[in-house]
Amino acid sequence: MGPGRAATLEYSLERRPHRSPAGVPLAAALTNGRPPILQRSIRYHRPRAPFCGTGACTNCLVRVNGVPNVRACRYVPSPGDRIESENAWPSPRFDLLGVLDTLFPGGIDTVRGFRRPLFARTLYQRVVRRLAAYGRIPDPSASASVPRPGELLHAEHVVVGAGGAGRSAAERLIAAGARPLLLDRSAIPDPPVGADVRPGLLAAFLPPPTGDAAAPFELLAVDGDGRGLRIGARRVVLATGGFDAGLWFANGDRPGVLTAEGAEALAGDGGRAPFARSLLFGGGSRAATILERWGESVEAVAAPGAISPAVVRLASEHGVPLYPRSLIRGVGGRRSVRSAVLVTRGGGPTTPLEVDAVVLAHRRLPNNPMLFQAGARMRWDPAPGAYVPVRAGAATTVPGLSVAGALAGSADPSGEVPSGAEAAERSLSSAPWPAAFPEPGPAAPGEMEGYYRELLGLSGGTGRWIACACEDVGLPELKDAHRRGYSGIEVIKRYTGLGTGLCQGRYCLSEALLALSVWEGRPPSEVGYITQRPPVMPVSLEALASLPELPEAA
Ligand code: FES
Repeated sequence: MGPGRAATLEYSLERRPHRSPAGVPLAAALTNGRPPILQRSIRYHRPRAPFCGTGACTNCLVRVNGVPNVRACRYVPSPGDRIESENAWPSPRFDLLGVLDTLFPGGIDTVRGFRRPLFARTLYQRVVRRLAAYGRIPDPSASASVPRPGELLHAEHVVVGAGGAGRSAAERLIAAGARPLLLDRSAIPDPPVGADVRPGLLAAFLPPPTGDAAAPFELLAVDGDGRGLRIGARRVVLATGGFDAGLWFANGDRPGVLTAEGAEALAGDGGRAPFARSLLFGGGSRAATILERWGESVEAVAAPGAISPAVVRLASEHGVPLYPRSLIRGVGGRRSVRSAVLVTRGGGPTTPLEVDAVVLAHRRLPNNPMLFQAGARMRWDPAPGAYVPVRAGAATTVPGLSVAGALAGSADPSGEVPSGAEAAERSLSSAPWPAAFPEPGPAAPGEMEGYYRELLGLSGGTGRWIACACEDVGLPELKDAHRRGYSGIEVIKRYTGLGTGLCQGRYCLSEALLALSVWEGRPPSEVGYITQRPPVMPVSLEALASLPELPEAA
């Protein structure tokens, strides 16, 4: 290898030899100025390309060495790997079953359809099963032949999340003489000295605390090798951060629509933008980050509300036009984004744009499922349009459970370190856990509530509206459920399947709450929330089976 040349490795992609730089995640390695189309959706076989870049959605699933549903945005190929696409024949770009998308413009009714005539029911069932599954079962050779035993751990203090806030919490605990156990989904670079560190956990879930005073919390986690960890803890700090939200519009699942995190993940180490002419949606700090990095590849900036001075300044440096107070009505393009249509809010003009991507950087949502699972009381925060914990300082309503950083509702990244330290102080304190929590009064409707009220009131437009990309549930199905008298998010979820896919509602539930709030004529908090059941992320049954039993009580 010559100086300055990155090492490459060879593997097979769709049964053909392929080379890419070593150490680069597959999705980034396959991005060449535009997001790669890696698979088709389960019901309509719509083309899908990476969206979230965080390993949480279903847009980049591939089959690796006979193992289905491997996330290409996080998987780093090894030499000799056999990588194939899923749900597409002959390829994700030209998939024959893509005809379903045209044949069923009104959607497939999998609840009431496919029942008559009776003699065809067996065939229907086969078709429905085929349309309802992710990938194919693993090759027999891909299953582990030797069961890997799980591990039983105990820690006085556990910190979940090793970002700015979690790290700061761990460091404060160490400074006070504790030895925290620090858990994270990703590698933890330069881990704090004095902490027990467990990176690469696929999932960690936290059922409500038990009556055991020494270790009231029990966390269950699975590591990257599929091994279960059962962790007893006396105090827990949750610092699981936030993520860039999705957004609903016509053809919003087209390749080229992606979050700011998704764009950053596809850029890889080379840093090249995964688009040439994007519509950047957002007027705050996330949008400023994207403009700073890739301003020359941004065609326009639009935002649901006002645009911050920092974004105005950066846009003017790059000669990028601004569209504040705008709705994205939809995108065009048969296989990937070719255009977008903006509508100025308040009945203003419509603006067509020629773009090859839509980058969503309009709001960040707290990564809150573990709080629901632990039984913490939550409240609707209209600003991001999401649930945040009811708290007194860093203390949640669950004694012993503190929150820090974006999960606590702090939108400002500079607040992460003090917030982590405050959560650690709360964990260390011997003072009684707060018994009273401030009850916020009724909140004024947030910006996104008005946004969806206007968007859903627009008539006409073309393209399918996918409300839940994991399960291919369309907006018309939600509307139909509402017309039939189903109300509340939990009931709508059960009836339509929205929010039941691999992302567990991360990219659709907030939007669904906002839309249902418009249709049902009540605040999102009254539309409710789904029952959040563990695990946070899908894990294999093998990993769950490896969770060790608790020792028998004496
Ligand atoms: S899981 Fe890979 S892009 Fe979302």
